[in-house]
Amino acid sequence: MMSPHGSVPVNSPLLDGNEEKYLVECIRTGWISSEGPYVKQFEQQFAARVGRKHGVAVSNGSAALDAAVVALGIGAGDEVILPTSTIISCAAPIVRAGAKPVLVDCDPRIWNMVVEQIEARITPRTKAIMVVHIFGLPVDMDPVLALARKHGLKVIEDAAEVIGQTYRGKPCGSFGDISTFSFYSNKHVTTGEGGMVVTDDPALAGRCRSLRNLCFKPEQRFVHDDLGWNFRLSNLQAALGVAQLERLDKSVAIKRRMGARYTELLAGTRGIQLPVTSTPYADNIYWVYGLVLGDDVPFDAKEAMARLAKLGIGTRPFFWPMHEQPVFRRMGLFGGERYPAAERIARRGFYIPSGMALSDGQIERSAVAVKEILR
Ligand SMILES: Cc1ncc(COP(=O)(O)O)c(C=O)c1O
Repeated sequence: MMSPHGSVPVNSPLLDGNEEKYLVECIRTGWISSEGPYVKQFEQQFAARVGRKHGVAVSNGSAALDAAVVALGIGAGDEVILPTSTIISCAAPIVRAGAKPVLVDCDPRIWNMVVEQIEARITPRTKAIMVVHIFGLPVDMDPVLALARKHGLKVIEDAAEVIGQTYRGKPCGSFGDISTFSFYSNKHVTTGEGGMVVTDDPALAGRCRSLRNLCFKPEQRFVHDDLGWNFRLSNLQAALGVAQLERLDKSVAIKRRMGARYTELLAGTRGIQLPVTSTPYADNIYWVYGLVLGDDVPFDAKEAMARLAKLGIGTRPFFWPMHEQPVFRRMGLFGGERYPAAERIARRGFYIPSGMALSDGQIERSAVAVKEILR
């Protein structure tokens, strides 16, 4: 992921462990499809790492959420509560399943869903709460789990952005009835494209395995009682995953160092809000290093990103809220709903280069550029 003109890329993976060795082995042995041994190894080792009994590797994090929603039997007439400030991969499976996404706003400082808003959104039709840990800090899980118990709801935990993170010392991804991960190239564990569903429930794991592989009837191939997808992960991707998992602690440490360095360089800069370093239940692992422009800054994130691009600094915007998505509005969803914190950070938030392979010099260049555009 080198970018032209010596600019600083927004993402840059680090593949300097056993990645090459394991990939070469796949090629030499001919095990390149999802039938290869690395898939099982990756599933078992990843599930164990996040404290779960079962892992089902899939082709990406979005697919993992689709499988999770369908495996839980969520369908027409059901409602699922989730944050408006997230990726569409969270809301789309709910809508595709014929259920209704019900939204809560995000915290203006932590950028995670406001847990205190969940209970008021629960109705007799609510089937699940979909928790999404945003940008490297976990959602406050204890109250969510208490609510789920009290109202008999399932919890889907999207842990795509917090691989290697913990909540009160317990791994993120260990809290949902089903938890999901993405291994896209900007994640703390990457397989290029990839994902995983983890659970302790053997029936849910079996259902996800079936959904991942077109719902073939086990006793008779090419006969199907249900519709699934081909969401399989290849042995090549799983080989990368096994190598990446070996270095996860190192990767988390690299990201924490990156976050600490940015904070050191940017602390006290007028006009920007920096990520929260820690909460009572976790220290940030900085999936990305996000910034939110203050109201006194006379331009928005779009303009800030354009100015940074001119200085050779890669950026990405924060999520655009689900209630403002044209596709959902067209379907008649979320009409008239407002979530001020999510709307604000969508317009004033962006993240700066946060890749695993970022050098100290690139971090410094990026921080200098941020100060420059705010001067
Ligand atoms: C919170 C969250 N959920 C789901 C996804 C979707 O994962 P993927 O890109 O692997 O489909 C992402 C992707 O970056 C994400 O950040």
